Amino acid sequence: MTLFDTTTHMLYLGTAICFVLGLHLMNSPATARRGNQLSALGMAVAVGLTVVVLVHGGTITAIAAAALAAGVAVGAGVGLVAARRVKMTAMPQLVSLFNAVGGGAAALIAFADALPGTAADRPISTTLTTFLDVLIGGVTFSGSLIAAGKLAGFVPGRPLTFRGARAVNLVLGLIAITAGCLYTALGGLATLGVLTVAALALGVLMTLPIGGADMPVVISLLNACTGTAVAMAGFVIGSTPLIIGGALVGAAGGILTKLMAVAMNRSLLSIVAGGFGTGDEQSRPAIAATGAARTVTADDAALQLAYAGRVVIVPGYGLAAAQAQHEVVELAQALTEHGVDVSYGIHPVAGRMPGHMNVLLAEANAPYPELKDLEEINPQFPATDVVLVVGANDVTNPAARRAGNSVSGMPILDVDKAHSVIVVKRSLGHGYAGIDNELYTNPRTAMLFGDAKVVLTALINELQAYVH
Ligand code: TAP
Repeated sequence: MTLFDTTTHMLYLGTAICFVLGLHLMNSPATARRGNQLSALGMAVAVGLTVVVLVHGGTITAIAAAALAAGVAVGAGVGLVAARRVKMTAMPQLVSLFNAVGGGAAALIAFADALPGTAADRPISTTLTTFLDVLIGGVTFSGSLIAAGKLAGFVPGRPLTFRGARAVNLVLGLIAITAGCLYTALGGLATLGVLTVAALALGVLMTLPIGGADMPVVISLLNACTGTAVAMAGFVIGSTPLIIGGALVGAAGGILTKLMAVAMNRSLLSIVAGGFGTGDEQSRPAIAATGAARTVTADDAALQLAYAGRVVIVPGYGLAAAQAQHEVVELAQALTEHGVDVSYGIHPVAGRMPGHMNVLLAEANAPYPELKDLEEINPQFPATDVVLVVGANDVTNPAARRAGNSVSGMPILDVDKAHSVIVVKRSLGHGYAGIDNELYTNPRTAMLFGDAKVVLTALINELQAYVH
């Protein structure tokens, strides 16, 4: 091995260490930003190094070099602008588009490698990984585009299905596997073409029946698939950074998907089978709870908060929808300065994407030590004077403790164990799970109706009368 080879291998190892450390730093909101920067640095070094290796090997023509430079410039430019401009609420669809690009690129790598002239004497280890790369990459590419379309509203968010859809999927799956096995054993671009078409069709037909509100879990699953496809592409062309990077994304995405499914108390199979959750539709008026709930004015609520010793704020999807993160943090700060002990109770699936509430609150500079996860905050509710629930619904529903409803078994924030609860939302309408929230008729609960941003602004104003 030459000095150049040793150096590049060591540098590639360095990029892998950046990815692993970056993932580790993402464990906590306090270090997540640094984790992201470290991973991006690793990726930049890996891309730059690949160019150096190509140029050093003399295998790249001037035209190919120009195409590579143009690709990097366009890709980085679009990525940078999209990431800077995207609103927090549109982040899941951006992630989905990134998944599509990743899966598609991984499949294209396998295709380029399989083209005539490069395909001679390909061992079975290469044809097998090419098969898996094209299958997973193809499904991920088309599936992610449909998922992004559903979240962005270009494709209807409700489950779209037709009679015999599962049979069609089964047939497509069989065609893909047969074509893949034939390609693995015999090679041939025609079989690879059939495999590609079947994989692309499967991606579309598997994603269409899934309800828009289940999309974040599906996107996480597709993210895991992107990683797996990229790792396969690494095996196809013998690239260690692709194998390591892809494996890390595949494993992290797989773990996240499992955690989300557990926190929603849904099996992954039932999510992929589709039909539950129709997206962020207008909330319907709850029937059983109507009339039985107590209401409170912003003035009364501000008084309760000002005289509380300990307050826990529970944010949910409504906080994101109202974009009221700055107001909630401002209110918390005013209470803290007044001597109230304030913390935030964060449910793992509050909102519509993993870490949704953490990201929102971090954007508004909420102090990290005040963000408590479910396990940490639940024992503290009995000693809490006031819980302020802002736009959260399902994650606080005591019905989850009983069997026989759509949130049964889901771990919830035990807000009903606090001395009193104030719920900020626009109506008694349902959340994502589509059922009444028994918390609203609890005698300890008072409803403060209105848009979260408007109500929180009113609370901040009313609070001035008590904190000075
Ligand atoms: P939800 O149960 O969905 O409830 C959100 C509530 O926000 C609604 O009831 C709505 O009531 C209220 N709201 C909407 N816009 C508002 C506004 N502008 N101002 C004030 N309130 C507003 O939310 P959650 O408690 O965060 O629970 C999340 C749900 O999503 C769970 O069922 C979870 O399983 C599911 N889910 C989560 C994820 C992830 S990864 N987080 C992924 C998929 C599904 P009004 O209409 O009455 O205002």
